Amino acid sequence: MPTAIELTGITKRFPGVIANDNVNLVVEAGEIHAICGENGAGKSTLMKILYGMQSPDEGVMRVNGREVSFSSPTDAIAEGIGMVHQHFMLAGQLSVLENVILGSEPVKSGGRIDFDEARRHLAEVSEAYGLTVDPGDLVDTLEVGERQRVEIIKVLFRGARILILDEPTAVLVPQEVEELFRNLRELKEGGATIIFIDHKLQEVLEISDRITVIRRGKTVATVNAADVSAGDLAELMVGSELPTPDTTESTVTDQLALEVLDLVVLDNDDRTVVDNVSLTVHKGEIVGIAGIEGNGQTELVDAIIGTGPVMSGTVRLLGNDITLAPVRKRREAGIGYVPQDRHHEGLLLDAPLWENAALGHQTRAPYSHGPWMDRAGARRRTEEIREEFDVRTPSVDVSARALSGGNQQKLIIGREMTADPAVLIAAHPTRGIDVGAQADVWNTIRKARSEGLATLLISADLDELIGLSDTIVVMFHGKLVATLDPAEITPRSLGSYMTGAALQEDVR
Ligand SMILES: Nc1ncnc2c1ncn2[C@@H]1O[C@H](COP(=O)(O)OP(=O)(O)OP(=O)(O)O)[C@@H](O)[C@H]1O
Ligand SMILES: [Mg+2]
Repeated sequence: MPTAIELTGITKRFPGVIANDNVNLVVEAGEIHAICGENGAGKSTLMKILYGMQSPDEGVMRVNGREVSFSSPTDAIAEGIGMVHQHFMLAGQLSVLENVILGSEPVKSGGRIDFDEARRHLAEVSEAYGLTVDPGDLVDTLEVGERQRVEIIKVLFRGARILILDEPTAVLVPQEVEELFRNLRELKEGGATIIFIDHKLQEVLEISDRITVIRRGKTVATVNAADVSAGDLAELMVGSELPTPDTTESTVTDQLALEVLDLVVLDNDDRTVVDNVSLTVHKGEIVGIAGIEGNGQTELVDAIIGTGPVMSGTVRLLGNDITLAPVRKRREAGIGYVPQDRHHEGLLLDAPLWENAALGHQTRAPYSHGPWMDRAGARRRTEEIREEFDVRTPSVDVSARALSGGNQQKLIIGREMTADPAVLIAAHPTRGIDVGAQADVWNTIRKARSEGLATLLISADLDELIGLSDTIVVMFHGKLVATLDPAEITPRSLGSYMTGAALQEDVR
């Protein structure tokens, strides 16, 4: 069998940065090949080049032994390459079938879409790779793991035999990760070649055959997964040993910082999505919320920060009722917020970093001076954030879009933490952040906690939830269904609370 992918001497320059510097990558047909490296190392750029989304400045690409040159993803798809992006690109109001065929609809003579043929081909693909979906389901009603499966099927439907997945596990709970890995193994059995990016080194070791490590735009090594440990990988990635996060004693006080009382939120169809939720976070305390996406966490957070409606109930910040206060007032009163979707809520992608650093804090020093924006102050603060939070960028004047995913996230964390909040609402704070930087973020939050910060932490990373929280509550179908001691719980057992399995056992 010819080599599936052979990239030789790939170089890609952006203004002020060499994203890929003479990178080599060889992926054998039928293997699962992981790409690892720090935030900003150049992983996504390399994958976008391979998928025809960006063109390299230098280098040669071979697919199945033949030299190729892509000017768009259409060219890559024609060569059997498909990519599943980290930000899902499905249309929520369409069915699974409609989403899968979108853009490559089989047509009957006369030009109408041949739905029977589409359904038949979809069934064939699901059957061949053991990926089950219900073609009639609305995408909006699916769990995250199911949506991802639809994205994978969509790629296979177009005939892809080489699959690229950029951080596919970041949004999944452990049970879903296991399911994804089962699917990837089946795909491999079926002859597919898989390239994927992942920051969780244990997962990388578990699923991949070989691993290529990229550091600062250059290929460092390609190793057999069986021959290395997580520590070895980290050393290859960052060139030094993994930092170990400090564990610190509890600093929980008896002073209330955030109180949510009997909160009820309805959705557009008048269904109860937050069902009589009460919780408190004290100064110096981290309360973790565990739950599978779509169980009311988003609506709860929206009600606390003021971007969503409240049907009834009360939210208090440092003793003051803020249930009806506008977002700006809440921010000024000390709420820090790390949103779950950095692209839609956290950043202005086309604005420079220094404007992004001011976002949500623009009415206060150092970003403003009286009624005026203080540009010099904003730039100075952004330089501080860049330094302290290791945001890798050629300058604070580039647009947020030009940062790698992990560096965008570090900018947001830096912005919120330097504003010295009284209460931090952190949704997936380290999503997409590399292992070294993740330890830094944890230490920052722990240090702020010891100085009195109250944190409400929402995370799909159960190790993070267990490692950081003083208390964990589980949210299921809009209700808080369990309060757990992180010292006494494992990621697996927490996972079964989140899927409701543990609750049914309790009832019996
Ligand atoms: N469109 C762009 N314009 C300018 N610079 C860019 C652009 N895309 C990426 N870069 C830069 O190229 C470098 C590599 O980015 P890339 O997104 O490939 O990193 P990554 O390894 O995927 O990181 P992460 O783990 O954070 O996702 C970074 O310095 C980034 O700022
Ligand atoms: Mg990336």
